[in-house]
Amino acid sequence: MFATIRTKNGWAEVFVYLKNSKMKIVIIILTAIFFFSCKNKQKEMGDWIKGNDEEQLKTIEKHFRGLDMAMIEIGYRYRELFWAGKDQNWEYAAYQVDKIKLSLENALQRRPQRAKSAQSFLQTILPEMKKSVESRDTMLFNNNFEILTLNCNSCHVAEKVPYFNVQPPSQRFLSIKE
Ligand code: HEC
Repeated sequence: MFATIRTKNGWAEVFVYLKNSKMKIVIIILTAIFFFSCKNKQKEMGDWIKGNDEEQLKTIEKHFRGLDMAMIEIGYRYRELFWAGKDQNWEYAAYQVDKIKLSLENALQRRPQRAKSAQSFLQTILPEMKKSVESRDTMLFNNNFEILTLNCNSCHVAEKVPYFNVQPPSQRFLSIKE
């Protein structure tokens, strides 16, 4: 018998020779599975993400962005960390250190070529910052905040964006205040 199957490039007629009815049933089931999986693959997900699976993934990856959006978040958290220290709001400060770490780690997963420049920042600078927050010692916190700032900027130099010269904020905008 002839059967029509759907392929990547359209429809194709194939000739199927069936010896017995058992085989027929197997072929029918296989065809049904084949059609079902084709249908699933071509389904467009969401309202605007179009294309095949690979194209859809590319679209999602593109919208996750690289380091830039993470740095906007990190810039915000860096400023909040500064004010949390001034307020001695240590739980809030600890929260911000953790989120800076998370945001940077996720960003480096997206841009692994930048990971080397962030090695000591993640392994030493941030853990030291966290320790000073946990110690609830303002002097130690201020000291570590300076070191943190220096290291934000040294990564910017290493990554050839020295014009992002981060400095502690002088004015407080929207923020959480104790
Ligand atoms: C991997 C090393 C690295 C570390 C560590 C790092 N940055 Fe960045 N930062 C970058 C890179 C690279 C860019 C430029 C992003 C781009 O070109 O897409 C950037 C950009 C920025 C920007 C500008 C974002 C924008 O698009 O307007 C800010 C603000 C910023 N960083 C703040 C910080 C702060 C604050 C810290 C420390 C708490 C820090 N960064 C630590 C690599 C780093």
